[in-house]
Amino acid sequence: MLPYARPSITDAEVREVEDCLRSGWLSTGPRAQRFEAALAERLGVRHALGVSSGTAALHLAVLAAAVGPGDEVITTPMTWVSTANVVLHAGGRPVFVDVEPETLNLDVGRVEAAITPRTRAVLPVHYAGQPCDMDPLLELAQARGLSVIEDAAHALGASYKGRAIGSLGDVTMFSFHPAKNLTTGEGGGLATNSDELAERMRVLRFHGIDQRPDARFGGRGAASYDLLAAGFKYNFTDLQAAIGLHQLERLDAMNERRAQLAKLYQARLAQIPHVRALGTVPYEHVHAWHILVVQVDVDALGVERDAVIAALREEGVGAGLHFVPLHQLSLYRDVADPADLPVATEAGRRILTLPLFPDMSDADVDFVVDTLEQVVRRHTRSGA
Ligand SMILES: Cc1ncc(COP(=O)(O)O)c(C=O)c1O
Repeated sequence: MLPYARPSITDAEVREVEDCLRSGWLSTGPRAQRFEAALAERLGVRHALGVSSGTAALHLAVLAAAVGPGDEVITTPMTWVSTANVVLHAGGRPVFVDVEPETLNLDVGRVEAAITPRTRAVLPVHYAGQPCDMDPLLELAQARGLSVIEDAAHALGASYKGRAIGSLGDVTMFSFHPAKNLTTGEGGGLATNSDELAERMRVLRFHGIDQRPDARFGGRGAASYDLLAAGFKYNFTDLQAAIGLHQLERLDAMNERRAQLAKLYQARLAQIPHVRALGTVPYEHVHAWHILVVQVDVDALGVERDAVIAALREEGVGAGLHFVPLHQLSLYRDVADPADLPVATEAGRRILTLPLFPDMSDADVDFVVDTLEQVVRRHTRSGA
C-alpha cells in the first residue's frame, strides 16, 4: 500500500537519536534549545517553542490569547478536530465560517459578519499548506481588537507575500506529527514575536512553573521554583529535537520535492474526468504542499466518496480524508447549521487525499493517477 504520507528519515536523524540516547539527557535539554533557536531563525521570529504535539501548541496559543469562558473564536470547519477542541478546553466556543470553494481555506471575506462582542480571536488554518489571505484578516483583527492564532500544522516552510508563515499572526502553531512536512515523531511548535505571549506559553507548557524545563539541564538552574498557574506537561524532549534538527536542515529540500510531485499530479489530474485538484490562491505565496487534496464529482459517479476511497485502498493507493467538516461531527453538530456552511458541507462530500510525501517517485504519481482514473471510469454513471 502506498500510504498518503510517510516520514522521510535519513541516517542523520538515526545517528542523532542514538547520540541523544547515549548522552543521558532524553527530556528537555540542549537539543531542544538548539531546535528552538534554529526554528526561530528559520521563521525570522523572536520566539519559537517546542511542545509535545500540535494540539498542545494550539491549546497553549488559545490560552495565551486569553480565550476564556464564553469567548468566541472564529475558525474554519475544514480542519482537524484539535483546532476547535482547544477552544472548548479553554471554556470558549468555536464559531465556524465557511471556506473558499477553490482552496478550502477560510473565506476571509466572511469573517467580519461573524464577529460579536464575545469574539476574542480568529483562528485560520492554512489548509493543505496553502497560505490563507492574511493581510485583510490581520487588518480586520487589528481594527476589531482580536488576536490572530494561525493553525499552520500543514504550512511549515510556506510563505505569504514574501513573509514566512509563522511570522504574521500573534501566535502560529505547527505540528510535527509523522505525516507532517517536518516530523519529530510527535511534537508541535509555536512561533511568536511577542515576549509576553512567549513567556505565558513557556510557563504553561511546563506545569505553570516559573522556570524553563531546560533550566534544570546540567544543574545550572536554581533548585527551587514557584508555581504561577495550573499548567500542563507539554514540554518538548531532546529525543524529539534530535529528529527535528535534521528534519529542519532538510525542510526546504523536502518541500521542493513535494512541490515537484504536486506539479506532476496537477498535470495528470487535469486529464481525468470528474476529478479536480484544489485551486491556487491569486497572491504571491510559497505553498508547503502538505497534502494533495482532490474533489471528486460524486454526482457524476454512482457511488459516494467513501466508496472511492475504499476502491483506491483496495488497489493499493492509501487515500485519506482531510477532513470530515467539523460541523458534521456529533460534538459540533449544534454549533452550526450546514446551510450556513454550504461550501464546506459540499466539499465534505467530495474531497479525498492522495499520497504525497518527499520520498515518493514520479512513477508513484503515475500509479496513483492511473488507479484513480480506473476507479472513476468504473463508477461513472452512463451519460455523466
Ligand atoms: C489542521 C491541523 N491542526 C492541528 C493538528 C494537530 O496536530 P497534532 O497531531 O500534532 O496534535 C493537525 C494534525 O493532526 C492538523 O492537521
